Amino acid sequence: MSAHERRILLANVDRPGYTTDIACYQHHGGYIALQKALAMPPAQVCDEVKRSGLRGRGGAGFPTGVKWGFLDRKSGKPIYLVVNADESEPGTFKDRQIIYRDPHQLLEGTLITAHAIQAAQIFIYIRGEFQNGAKILAHAIEEARAHGLCGANTNQNKGYPVEIVVHRGGGCYVCGEETGLIESLEGKRGYPRIKPPYFPAVLGLYGCPTIVNNVETMAQVKHILEHGGAAFAETGAAGDSGTHLWGVSGLVKHPGLYEIEAGKATLGELLHDICGGPLDGRRFKALIPGGSSAKILKFGERFTGKLPNGTAFDWGVEDIPLDANSLTACGTSLGTGGVIVMDDSVEMVQALANINAFYAHETCGQCTPCREGSQWLARITKRIVKGGGREEDVAMLADIADQIAGRTICAHGDAVAWPVQSAVPKFREEYLESIHRRTSGQTQPKGLRLI
Ligand SMILES: Cc1cc2nc3c(=O)[nH]c(=O)nc-3n(C[C@H](O)[C@H](O)[C@H](O)COP(=O)(O)O)c2cc1C
Repeated sequence: MSAHERRILLANVDRPGYTTDIACYQHHGGYIALQKALAMPPAQVCDEVKRSGLRGRGGAGFPTGVKWGFLDRKSGKPIYLVVNADESEPGTFKDRQIIYRDPHQLLEGTLITAHAIQAAQIFIYIRGEFQNGAKILAHAIEEARAHGLCGANTNQNKGYPVEIVVHRGGGCYVCGEETGLIESLEGKRGYPRIKPPYFPAVLGLYGCPTIVNNVETMAQVKHILEHGGAAFAETGAAGDSGTHLWGVSGLVKHPGLYEIEAGKATLGELLHDICGGPLDGRRFKALIPGGSSAKILKFGERFTGKLPNGTAFDWGVEDIPLDANSLTACGTSLGTGGVIVMDDSVEMVQALANINAFYAHETCGQCTPCREGSQWLARITKRIVKGGGREEDVAMLADIADQIAGRTICAHGDAVAWPVQSAVPKFREEYLESIHRRTSGQTQPKGLRLI
């Protein structure tokens, strides 16, 4: 393990011989935090999580305790807890590691949350393709039930009396969006809902108050209860406490899943010290830090400005600290922590064509700007790659993206627009060069790889 890493969520999976059995989890201190939480009134557990400053790990980074505070507790309706295990953002592979390798950690955080918000039922909505993940979770829930930690025969001192249902999604990106997920869970097509009025904390699953939280967020809750909200808040960076899981993929020597305390390492340290640097003979060219919908960074560009706490900065890509505020200040986002690395063998128009094809396939079609715009973006980048591009296509890509961002029911529209809005100005010259080269019949310059 690199000195830059601090493995808390991944501590168990590092233990030699560690298995997903409840006995193994309990042998290493599992479910003690749940007992601690159960001895506290629910409101106090909510306060601890609020005090911790934990921000949701599903992409938007919304403060978890604040979200729980929005719950409509006066409606008299049951409160639902939905764990978002859809994890379909390209480049993201952290939640599945928790599910596959340490499922009881997720269950413990989830049961603590259920107690905190007084949930009547828990649903874990898992991406359809994660067949084994669903089986592992179902087995772990059976074990927890047999140990009196949940379900009809819960031991009141040890567990929280709630049923946990694992629901496999149909395999659709937009069903990861919380209101699309709720529609899908209700058995309908996963069309995201309009907010207002459909804020899940007020009008969620079956019209009842609902909290939707990401898998990693739930796992963090266990550690907040273990160490206390104040202690958790002291770790990490200003405005971004705790550790983050970073899933690094693409053109580095050692891609993988790494856990780093927020702000305690830079992108350069992640790429070079932890991931071993670029492949031999190559140089880094571009990077997407938070899953494919986050805005792209170009090696060589500089970022200047002030952080929310007033600190001035002047950074290159490799100097950016790995925390939410620093990445936002550089015009991108921490997103899901899915770092996609590209080196100088990648032709940027091909990379964008790949991304555009994904979002065009995944749009749900409800909002015209997203439905039509995503198709046009994909068609234009595809025609450039096929050798039919025109110079004006570059400006057209940016124009179309500008007409999508912020104009849709859900953030899928932003996910369509942001890669284009960030890549076009940064790689305009290369795009024009690709158009000229490919229209003249030359497809691939020496040294570039075909994606
Ligand atoms: C198109 C789209 C896809 C999303 N996919 C996921 C996903 O797969 N997993 C996830 O946790 N959040 C996903 N989100 C974010 C959720 O809407 C929601 O913000 C998150 O589950 C809240 O959990 P958190 O507060 O713990 O971060 C997605 C959002 C959008 C707009």
